[in-house]
Amino acid sequence: MADVLDLRQFRGTQLDGLLQAESAEWDRLLDWDYQPSADLIRQYVDARILPGYVLAERGFGRTAPLGYGFFVHEARKGMIGNLFVAPEHRNGTLDGEHVLLEQMIATLTATPGVERIEAQLMAFAPQKLGECFAAHGFASFRRVFLELGLGGGEPANGAEGTTHLQDMRLEPWGGASYEEAARLIQHAYREHVDSRINDQYRNFAGAIRFMHNIAHYPGCGQFDASASFIARSLRRGALEGMILASRVKPDVAHITQICVLPERQGHGLGRALLERALGSLRRQRLRAVTLTVTGENAGALALYRRVGFVDLNEFDAYVWERTA
Ligand SMILES: CC(C)(COP(=O)(O)OP(=O)(O)OC[C@H]1O[C@@H](n2cnc3c(N)ncnc32)[C@H](O)[C@@H]1OP(=O)(O)O)[C@@H](O)C(=O)NCCC(=O)NCCS
Repeated sequence: MADVLDLRQFRGTQLDGLLQAESAEWDRLLDWDYQPSADLIRQYVDARILPGYVLAERGFGRTAPLGYGFFVHEARKGMIGNLFVAPEHRNGTLDGEHVLLEQMIATLTATPGVERIEAQLMAFAPQKLGECFAAHGFASFRRVFLELGLGGGEPANGAEGTTHLQDMRLEPWGGASYEEAARLIQHAYREHVDSRINDQYRNFAGAIRFMHNIAHYPGCGQFDASASFIARSLRRGALEGMILASRVKPDVAHITQICVLPERQGHGLGRALLERALGSLRRQRLRAVTLTVTGENAGALALYRRVGFVDLNEFDAYVWERTA
């Protein structure tokens, strides 16, 4: 018989088997090393500060975890951070994924002060969780996970330092502050579908949190400053575009952010930034680079496909807002 228990009753080592199985799945589905995230989860579980649930079989004096899920709170928002159930407990009489998801949604929606819930579970195909989220009033947004093979052969030649494009200077990331980057994000995503999915994009404080997470937490990989670039106006010195990259495996990169000020869009800057980053990744002899994009964001999707990215899989982003 399986029970749903509070994650804070567990020790990190009790989840070792699940975290290993999950790492293997992320490797297979997303070409992504989940180990740094798994290590952080273990630490948070040991500190008993991660809210969430474990689906566990109890009997003969022992408790065997079959799956787990956790969420985090950020001001008035709850974020479902993860959900994983061992493959053999997914679709039988006990659908472990739905059991845990229902429990997390029930807790978050019943928590006073939680006005919004976001979830982006990249390892789940849309049809897997879509009905459950929809039944609780979540909106869904299709997201596409793409990958580009970098060839792995000869390193690319081409620009390494500062270059120019029209009246802009393209240079390595080192020269920008979080504040400038946050202001750029806030402007680039105004009225954009991605700021309906991620409310951090809607204001300066949220965009600063986004930058902080990118630079310091492994959720999107380990930040790679050497493959991240900015574009500055030569006249005004202002930040007008940027591309941020991370490492998700020793030989695989991930583009965590690319954006250009609205008044600068459509003049080749996005493509130039992407090519600078790809050049740097090729010079580092990486095997591949991945990114995610909202399906509705047709311009960005067209840009990535034109550069050679191919679709690897799809997942949905889910958003719930409390109504009065
Ligand atoms: C996506 C973004 C970074 C692209 O930068 P950009 O400077 O506008 O793009 P470019 O001018 O370099 O255009 C690149 C290519 O995309 C194509 N493109 C741009 N907008 C397009 C659109 N709306 N529809 C179809 N194609 C489009 C261009 O034709 C160009 O193709 P080409 O190089 O073969 O001529 C920029 O539009 C942006 O910041 N958008 C808001 C934030 C965002 O969506 N970021 C991506 C999140 S995944």
